Amino acid sequence: MISITKPKIQTLKLGQSDNSSKMQQGAPVNVLGVAGSMRKGSFSTHALKLVLEGAKKYGAGSQLLELREVRLPIYDPSRSVPEELYQDVNGNHENVLDTVTKAIKWADAFVLASPDYHGSMSGAMKNFLDYFWEEFAGKTYGYIIASHEKGLTVADQMRTSVRQCYGWSMPYNISINGANDFNSAGNPINSILANRIKMLAHDLVTYGTLIRRQFLQDVMNKEVSDSYASHYREYYN
Ligand SMILES: Cc1cc2nc3c(=O)[nH]c(=O)nc-3n(C[C@H](O)[C@H](O)[C@H](O)COP(=O)(O)O)c2cc1C
Repeated sequence: MISITKPKIQTLKLGQSDNSSKMQQGAPVNVLGVAGSMRKGSFSTHALKLVLEGAKKYGAGSQLLELREVRLPIYDPSRSVPEELYQDVNGNHENVLDTVTKAIKWADAFVLASPDYHGSMSGAMKNFLDYFWEEFAGKTYGYIIASHEKGLTVADQMRTSVRQCYGWSMPYNISINGANDFNSAGNPINSILANRIKMLAHDLVTYGTLIRRQFLQDVMNKEVSDSYASHYREYYN
């Protein structure tokens, strides 16, 4: 039995019924790219943009969320959300958490892109993941890592966080070895990487659509009680 603990940040508790009806009508899957590098000129972010462009070609809606722009403070579950604590990179005191939350709810599938920091995902990426939980369930995830060592442990950690939130992960990653992988125009210099980028874009759209649609059908069909999706009915109401 899945035990559901309510997140303490109540702003994240809005339902997702709009998203549900949209998926029932067969609308295109929405892919959100989350860029976990705080570095200007990030290679993982660059590769992420290429995957998002590819996903658009396969008919997806796509959006980029750069954590270096939105600057979420360190997640603190004991704190409510005073707006002044959230400001973007330009110092704007808009409620950045609202912006991020809207993007998460909009998304049916994600690409998480992180640098390899000591064999781990970036602190910015982990902090972002800490803010959400139910929002991640029943969605599909792809992974990009900028690393000189393929970043397998980084991908495993992101995959573990996603699994813990009942998300579905692609069974492979994209690994970027810095400037060595791109030409001066920013295109991949080898066909293996170029094909992998296309493959991830394709698979996110194809599998992301199937998984999301089935999940939402199971959430909405009260006769289904044996699916993990049935545990999210309250959230989707
Ligand atoms: C604090 C820190 C730790 C790093 N640790 C590793 C590491 O363990 N293994 C590795 O291959 N690269 C490591 N790197 C290099 C980055 O992963 C590499 O520069 C990557 O391209 C950064 O991603 P970005 O271009 O998306 O910002 C580290 C870099 C920093 C700043």
